[in-house]
Amino acid sequence: MSHTKSKQVVWITGASSGIGLALTKRYLDNGWKVLASARSEGELSPLLSLYDDLTFIAFDVTNESQISLVREQLSEHTEHLDCAILNAGSCEYLDLSVEQPDWDMSKRVMMVNFFGMIHSIDTCLPLLKKASRPHLVGVGSQAVNAAFPKAEAYGASKAAVRYFLASLRMDLVPFGIDVSCLLPGFVDTPLTKKNDFSMPFIMSSEDAAQCMFKAIQRRPYEYAFPKPLSTMLWFGRHFPKVWQSLLAPKKEI
Ligand SMILES: NC(=O)c1ccc[n+]([C@@H]2O[C@H](COP(=O)([O-])OP(=O)(O)OC[C@H]3O[C@@H](n4cnc5c(N)ncnc54)[C@H](OP(=O)(O)O)[C@@H]3O)[C@@H](O)[C@H]2O)c1
Repeated sequence: MSHTKSKQVVWITGASSGIGLALTKRYLDNGWKVLASARSEGELSPLLSLYDDLTFIAFDVTNESQISLVREQLSEHTEHLDCAILNAGSCEYLDLSVEQPDWDMSKRVMMVNFFGMIHSIDTCLPLLKKASRPHLVGVGSQAVNAAFPKAEAYGASKAAVRYFLASLRMDLVPFGIDVSCLLPGFVDTPLTKKNDFSMPFIMSSEDAAQCMFKAIQRRPYEYAFPKPLSTMLWFGRHFPKVWQSLLAPKKEI
């Protein structure tokens, strides 16, 4: 008698572009059912007609009022989630060279990267609890490992994500939910296109998705990649004066 194993189900946020889009393709190509979210379909559009196992569910992670609707929509497509990859994020830089810096930008960045992740956890937790071996994955950044100029808000939001997930990992033990925090280095996506500084060891979104897909199978507490960048940032963290002299904008004479 043939026995058809049901597909594993993953929810990916920030799936319309960059890393999330590449992860979506990788999970589909590996036989998963993917529930993909972002504010708009974006680059997912052409994939939606190609893959029966791909469903788009619109979600603005900053909008708390959408949480129960998105939870319901997810439940219409699956009874449980084996994995949730909370990847939606944005990056803005603080420009102190202008007369009136945009301090509010910090709130926007925290709202997407930090509170957006909490809203996403709120959304998916009931469905994760119904899986036999659930896994919650958050996307942080290697930026947390050493300071970068202009990255006050972005770095702080990702440091908050990292701590939140480390604490959550403990509190979800009784529910049998594993928690991983992934810390990518520079990845070539629309988010980094605007960067005007050098991005050592930058990788394609496809290569990043491959590293992440493989790492997620091992369910690490944390996974930082690529390793040469981790080494460079280790240096920055342990020799902050040298690091600052290399990276900080020069004093005007
Ligand atoms: N690229 C890098 O070098 C790098 C390095 C370390 C970490 N990361 C992290 O990796 C994640 C993905 O970044 P990426 O480089 O792939 O950026 P990206 O190409 O700009 O993609 C960002 C994704 O997040 C979604 N998003 C943004 N704001 C949202 C909101 N309010 N609600 C719902 N979805 C929202 C976007 O879709 P919509 O605009 O349609 O909503 C898009 O799908 C982010 O968390 C980022 O911080 C990136």
